[in-house]
Amino acid sequence: MAGTYGDSTRSVKAVGAEAIPGLPVSSPPVPAAAYHLAPDEDGSLDSYGRSSNPTWRQLESALARLEGAATALVFGSGMAALTSVLRVVAEPGHTLVVPADGYYQVRAYAKEYLAPRGVTVVEARCAEMCDAARDADVVLAETPSNPGLDVVDLHRLAMTCRAQRTLLVVDNTTATPFGQQPLSLGADLVVASATKALAGHHDVLAGYVAGSQPELMERVQRERLHAGPILGAFEAWLVLRSLGSAGLRFERQCQNAAALALMLRSHPAVHTVRYPGLPEDPSHAVASMQMRRFGGIVAAELGDAQAVHDLVRRSALLIASTSFGGIHTSVDRRARWGDHVSDGFARISLGIEDTDDLVDDVRQALGAG
Ligand SMILES: Cc1ncc(COP(=O)(O)O)c(C=O)c1O
Repeated sequence: MAGTYGDSTRSVKAVGAEAIPGLPVSSPPVPAAAYHLAPDEDGSLDSYGRSSNPTWRQLESALARLEGAATALVFGSGMAALTSVLRVVAEPGHTLVVPADGYYQVRAYAKEYLAPRGVTVVEARCAEMCDAARDADVVLAETPSNPGLDVVDLHRLAMTCRAQRTLLVVDNTTATPFGQQPLSLGADLVVASATKALAGHHDVLAGYVAGSQPELMERVQRERLHAGPILGAFEAWLVLRSLGSAGLRFERQCQNAAALALMLRSHPAVHTVRYPGLPEDPSHAVASMQMRRFGGIVAAELGDAQAVHDLVRRSALLIASTSFGGIHTSVDRRARWGDHVSDGFARISLGIEDTDDLVDDVRQALGAG
């Protein structure tokens, strides 16, 4: 009963190669720039490495299954996927809504590249997305938002968008397809960075677009073919190899995030904690409706920048690093990158360490407060 499989089973099944006796259980990467051509090549076979690759195809079919999409397309990074989609769907004269409280590079791209080419760029926070969508041609939503972990009501937003033929694109990076499936909630496209929890080892960048509307996906595919922001075959293989354990890792990361959030909310050194899984979190009600898991990131506000540095210095398990979703628990003081947060705001990305070890370690590293 495929519909009732758990996340680890879904991960393992998604990356399974065809069971052909004598062939390896896991497929090797196929690095290829050029392929032998048939005398009358008609585009149905692989011909050139910028247009297709067998390792991409395997990864794309796994990602499509996990997102509940008809197809997926892989890219060289999450930003490559996002910017390719935006170039396709946001045309001159269009109004594009981007998250005001989401990943900052997307706003920068919209302002520095799309706005000068005639796209009106509107920034809206998670809570304002539905209102902003009323006057838009395209909406890009990110939920839970990075780094603030606010949640957008995707069903409501999709209804608003559908009523006026606005295209809805959802960045599913922080939630992952194990946390939520935006397409099933009404999104037209999903974009995501696979660099984070899906690849999960801080060693490869990748991104993808998933969707079920053939004409839309065809346009995104042509953009990839022409602009060429492709994923190398070896990188595609690394992501594929990691994807098989992604369900298992994400389960532990979510468990660690929930336990850490509970400890942090009663620690005197911590001013505020955001985690959509905490019952008192402002996003909890909406998150409970649309998320199957609440994610592996916790946002905590400490007194100041020094308190965040001290936390990492006194800990035996935390590393200071940007990015998230990897096997190590990492802390990123987001003010350093210009996010609109306080100096003591720490985005904590939970790794796969044992829950008790991690919570004990962070408690002692925070000190008495
Ligand atoms: C929500 C979100 N979307 C997209 C990206 C871009 O992904 P990548 O770094 O793989 O280009 C990031 C990167 O941190 C992100 O946090």
